Order: sequence, then C-alpha cells, then structure tokens
Amino acid sequence: MVDSIYLIGFMGAGKTTVGRALATQLHYCFLDLDESIEKVAGKSIPTIFLEDGEQRFRKLESQILMETSKQKAVVATGGGIVLNESNRLFLQSQANVFFLNKQMDAIFRHLQEDRTNIRPLILEKTYEEIWQLHQLRQPLYQSVAGEIIDIVDETPDEISWQIYQKLIEKGENG
Ligand code: S3P
Repeated sequence: MVDSIYLIGFMGAGKTTVGRALATQLHYCFLDLDESIEKVAGKSIPTIFLEDGEQRFRKLESQILMETSKQKAVVATGGGIVLNESNRLFLQSQANVFFLNKQMDAIFRHLQEDRTNIRPLILEKTYEEIWQLHQLRQPLYQSVAGEIIDIVDETPDEISWQIYQKLIEKGENG
C-alpha cells in the first residue's frame, strides 16, 4: 500500500487547493484536517478556539492526524500541525511530506483576499506579527519536510503537477 501524502506549510500556502488538485490527479481520497476537526467537534474552528480554547483544538488536530495513517489519502494539514512534538515525530515517520514553502508576500496577499476562511491566530494581526509567526515556524516545517516545494506565483495546478512528478520519480504514482 502506498503511503498517504501530507501537505504542510503556513496558513495561506494553498495546502487545501493544491491537495484537492493532487488527490484528483492521483485518484486518491482528499482529507482536509481542519474540515475533519470541524466535523468531529460539530462546530467551526473559530468557535472551537473561542469556546474551548486553542489547546482543545490542538488535541483534536493531533488525534485526527494520527488516524490519517489508516487510509491512503492526500492530507492537507493546518498551519500549526508542526507545533506539537508528537505530530512532528509522526510526520517524520511518513514517506511523503511536502512543505509548500510559499513566499511571505504571496501568503500575506492570499490571507487578505481569503474572506471565507477565518483564522483565529491571525485575526487583527499586523504584517509584522504574521511575519514573525512565519519565521518561528519555518524551521519546524523544514524539520519534518521530505520535500520542499518553493512557491512564488505558481498556480495550484502547477504545484500539484510538480508534486506529482516528484512522486513518480520516487516510484509512488499510485
Ligand atoms: C492554524 C491554521 C489553520 C487552522 C487554525 C490554526 C495555525 O489552518 O488549522 O486556524 O495554527 O496555523 P490553515 O493552515 O489551513 O489556514
């Protein structure tokens, strides 16, 4: 059985959009961790943060991450998945972890334009504050990434194609 494929990276890096495209290309299931958390909790992410706190959110996030190894899927993780050490160890044990390393300016533009997705950790944060969070997390993403995909202005389909090529090179084309 081919392992699942994990997409990691900062908020706004395009993990969900790229993940959907890649899953279609590979004929794999697509799993969005944030969506699964919302289903399990029965409420939206901003509501979980507000009513239960970030710690509860992180606990659910870890539990659901561990369950993803049971099926073959393309998994889009949340930007904070690398904060927890057990999550990092789990990801390090996986064969296909792709870090979508999008340039900070492009991330910031995406976050400003994306009005549908409320991200509690960056609500009312300045560019400087988001940049600092990004800097703090970069080494964590790097520490678990099997492959780093540098993104400037490529489309999700182009990124998905790049990942697809890398999987073929590794002999894991499903
Ligand atoms: C978070 C990222 C979000 C979501 C939550 C926390 C983070 O996911 O899991 O708001 O800590 O970076 P996206 O990376 O899909 O925005």
